Amino acid sequence: MENIDILEFNFIGSEDRGYLIALEENKNIPFDIKRVYYTYNVPKGVKRGFHAHKNLEQVLVCLNGSIKVKCDYGTLEKTYVLDNPSKGLYIRNNVWREIYDYSEDAVLVVLASQLYSEDDYIRDYSEFIESISN
Ligand code: TYD
Repeated sequence: MENIDILEFNFIGSEDRGYLIALEENKNIPFDIKRVYYTYNVPKGVKRGFHAHKNLEQVLVCLNGSIKVKCDYGTLEKTYVLDNPSKGLYIRNNVWREIYDYSEDAVLVVLASQLYSEDDYIRDYSEFIESISN
């Protein structure tokens, strides 16, 4: 899907010793990392997200447990399951996202290309549809 890619991270290690994954800006993360945030202890049934960004690149990695991410372009939508720390969901501009079905132990870390700015959010779905049709 345009503006979305799945990233597969190489891991180092073995079943005996466990695994290690390194995330590096402009290498396996395709931008300068300005911000890292994470969500955890999200109660059963809660849905988060419900917004798009105007100018932001993000990589979502579910470090533990699992989540679902519904990505919507207005005309097209696709749902991704993140259930493995070696998989990243790379989302760019103008994608409405809804995150749900958090497992009890889900830890979602997000790497972002910009510092937090509320002005970059589109939180109203009809405003989002309007912005992509222009
Ligand atoms: P929001 O991005 O709406 O998270 P979610 O989609 O998971 O519900 O952010 C929730 C609140 O946290 C909102 O008040 C903004 C604040 N926030 C920050 O202060 N810094 C950040 O980096 C992020 C992502 C959110």
